[in-house]
Amino acid sequence: MALTTAPRVRSDALPLRTFKAKGRPSAIFGLGVHAPARVLSNVDLESLMETSDQWITERTGIKRRHIAEPGTTTFSLATEAARKALAAARVKAEEVDAIIVATSSPDGPFPSIACRMQDELGAPGSYAYDILAACTGFVYALEQADSMIASERADTVLVVGAEVLSRMLEYSNEYRHTAVIFGDGAGAAVVRPAPAGAGFKAWCLGGDGRGYAQVTAGNVPLGAYAAKDERPIIDMKGPDVFKFAVDIFIRQAYAIAQEAGISIEDIDLFVPHQANYRIIEAAARRIGLPMERVAVNIEEYGNTSTATIPLALHDAVAAGRVKSGDRVLLAGFGSGLTWGAGLLEWA
Ligand code: UT7
Repeated sequence: MALTTAPRVRSDALPLRTFKAKGRPSAIFGLGVHAPARVLSNVDLESLMETSDQWITERTGIKRRHIAEPGTTTFSLATEAARKALAAARVKAEEVDAIIVATSSPDGPFPSIACRMQDELGAPGSYAYDILAACTGFVYALEQADSMIASERADTVLVVGAEVLSRMLEYSNEYRHTAVIFGDGAGAAVVRPAPAGAGFKAWCLGGDGRGYAQVTAGNVPLGAYAAKDERPIIDMKGPDVFKFAVDIFIRQAYAIAQEAGISIEDIDLFVPHQANYRIIEAAARRIGLPMERVAVNIEEYGNTSTATIPLALHDAVAAGRVKSGDRVLLAGFGSGLTWGAGLLEWA
């Protein structure tokens, strides 16, 4: 049963900020993805730590994850995905006005991956930068692209989510609750002005820094640099994040539908951040969306942070599950804590 009234809000939950898309509308015109060839299955993990295919499958829905060879840069995965997205959109790199890369696993403190991509792809003069909003990063970056196009500061924006998270994983019993979940990969989208009627309709973005210590890589509270922590390892308070995730998916879906003036039943495809199948399934059930309207590919890639949404959207489009006029809800959450959702009518 779909929600018709506001969902119950936890007593400590912060209010959600929603925005109607204004100005010139934007839409996604081409998607590209790239994942390393090497695949680590649940069975492979059984020989590295005390875990089992059954535990991982039942608790997360993940069967495999793609893991980059040592020495692989996030830049290289990002660039591969971007080239495919540009080809799919039939856009030349020279036409790109801005490149925004969302990543939780940059290759270093600076310069940005986006600047290196600008040179590699051949998009001279475009403005280029990386953003960090953890797993919500791709939605944050899309919203920035939408703002640029709305305000006519750009006509073509390349948005990328790319990760080599395996650099921050430890395949041991101590870290088995994170080691089995994350994987490497990249996804990219070309965002351009939308044809009449189509494009992004509303956004919901926010953060709650009180949850700063819930999903981390490196020393808390100092941070990896100040603590001289050379190899930060991803850690998290899994059950707490699980509850937050289900809650924020439900609240975002409701809030954004209300902002866009539609009902939940009008959503044709929900593309959630792929963190755990049980989170997605629980949220979809409580929102009132059947799983046929939810894009899930977590079994193949695990949680690739900023890359999960473009990877899942790409696979849904490739499978013919999205057609012109469909209402697509993209929604994420992540470390920070952060959250973000965008509702668009497919061009
Ligand atoms: O995008 C980043 C945001 N992160 C997330 O969205 C993650 C949200 N949380 C989760 O997905 C789940 O909390 C996990 C998959 C991380 C863990 O699943 P859970 O059902 O919440 O397990 P738990 O942490 O409550 O642990 C239950 C048991 C523990 O054993 P004991 O203490 O009951 O004996 C864990 O040690 O499961 C054990 N366990 C494992 N067992 C086998 C934890 N990880 C594993 C493992 N294999 N890989």
